[in-house]
Amino acid sequence: MRWFQPLRLGPVTAEARTWIPAMVPWRATTEGFVTPEVVAWYERFARGEPAVLVVEATGIRDVPSGPLLRAGHDRYIEGLARLVEAVRRASGGRSRLFIQLIDFLAIKRRPTKEAFFTRFLQVDGPLRARAADVLGEPSLVALDEPAFRARLLGLEEPHLERVLSPRELESYRMGHRERVTDVHLPHVRYLPQVLPGLFARAARRCVEAGFDGVELHCAHAYTLASFLSARNTRTDGYGTSREGRLRLPLEVYAAVRAEVGQRVALGCRYLSGEVIEGGSTAEDAAHFGVAFARAGMDFLSLSRGGKFEDARQPKVGAAAYPYTGPSGHACMPAAHLPPPGPWGRNLPFAAPIRQAVRDAGLETPVIACGGIGSPWQAEEALQRGDADAVGAARQALADPDWFMKVRLGRGEEVRRCLFTNYCEGLDQAHKAVTCQLWDRGVFPDDAEVARTPDGRRLVAPPWGTGPTSR
Ligand SMILES: Cc1cc2nc3c(=O)[nH]c(=O)nc-3n(C[C@H](O)[C@H](O)[C@H](O)COP(=O)(O)O)c2cc1C
Ligand code: SF4
Repeated sequence: MRWFQPLRLGPVTAEARTWIPAMVPWRATTEGFVTPEVVAWYERFARGEPAVLVVEATGIRDVPSGPLLRAGHDRYIEGLARLVEAVRRASGGRSRLFIQLIDFLAIKRRPTKEAFFTRFLQVDGPLRARAADVLGEPSLVALDEPAFRARLLGLEEPHLERVLSPRELESYRMGHRERVTDVHLPHVRYLPQVLPGLFARAARRCVEAGFDGVELHCAHAYTLASFLSARNTRTDGYGTSREGRLRLPLEVYAAVRAEVGQRVALGCRYLSGEVIEGGSTAEDAAHFGVAFARAGMDFLSLSRGGKFEDARQPKVGAAAYPYTGPSGHACMPAAHLPPPGPWGRNLPFAAPIRQAVRDAGLETPVIACGGIGSPWQAEEALQRGDADAVGAARQALADPDWFMKVRLGRGEEVRRCLFTNYCEGLDQAHKAVTCQLWDRGVFPDDAEVARTPDGRRLVAPPWGTGPTSR
């Protein structure tokens, strides 16, 4: 199979075209350190010998961000090196280990109505003027602030929809979310000055820890993706036009390359489409792919959607999750979707991007994924020229040995993903990610395997009994 033929990724050669894209398992310490559970998670994937295994989105800053891995300080190098070592050992050196580097802006939980109107909402002239106008009460313009807030707190939704600005209404209903266009905030305005150095230093630490590749996270709902977005209206040269939107991701790439040179494969993950109203188009994605390839990236890993703009309203006290709306369903396609269902759903969007890169005379490998649950889908995509490598996140979670089972001709033993997104629900709740299938059946290590406090296995079962595709 072409899927098991080697692939050059800049200075690195992958033994095959199998790939596990980044997945956050929620197993780091709250300070962002590698734990034994993080090591066990990647070690288990490595035993199935994927050609490339990408470590979860890892923060480039040294700021609290919950149990997500971080590379924002030299003190993280030691733990990351342990992880590299464990993967090397478990795969017999056959898996190349990459790490995804991420920056994200602040997002607040959805507040109670009372908290929003008594504390969070900023009272200014335009708000007072709108309230006075909508409610027909001119005195609201000069009313003392506590009384004004109390008046708004007592309003019903139809009035609030007219009194609050669209942004205020969103903060009230979804929780406040910073955007890259909030240039009135100095830390947002100066992102172009700050991010190249932060990414470069984090990448240098990952190289010191021994990773084979670094993937810049330019996908989904995070900072670099928001710069690429068609909704980026910054007018400081870092938005609006395609070239403006590309500028910061390219400057980040250049800074990282200058720091790490050719010691590792360096590429990015970005979107074949944002799948939101007014979002980037297929033409944008092809243009970006050519620009990244021309700049010298060693691979382009494609994802799709996963945006905050169309996310479902969270419950009070919870934060919006970018995989809940239509764009989220494109990102992690589930079994309930209309034909073709989740299976191979995002492959057709990779083909024109790869073609545009080839038409520009560049050979940069393109990696596609999304709903891959059988080797034939992967193989056909490679034969058709949709992509150069085909990845699987959830199928690899359901059965980390599946690449090896297929390679050895034992495909009937694969434990097949159901694409019902139980794992995604756990991610959404910031709980340790596990697979519903791991707890079905009887496995030789059942007695000693580590479990969550509510009894779920933390590691996939060994190649053994249990439900398979048979
Ligand atoms: C639990 C979970 C966590 C994820 N975390 C990340 C992440 O850290 N970075 C990323 O780019 N994608 C992340 N993804 C998206 C996957 O990499 C992948 O693009 C998506 O699941 C679709 O591929 P699949 O159909 O093979 O699962 C995550 C997916 C899941 C299910
Ligand atoms: S929990 Fe469901 S969707 Fe997630 S990997 Fe397991 S079977 Fe697939």
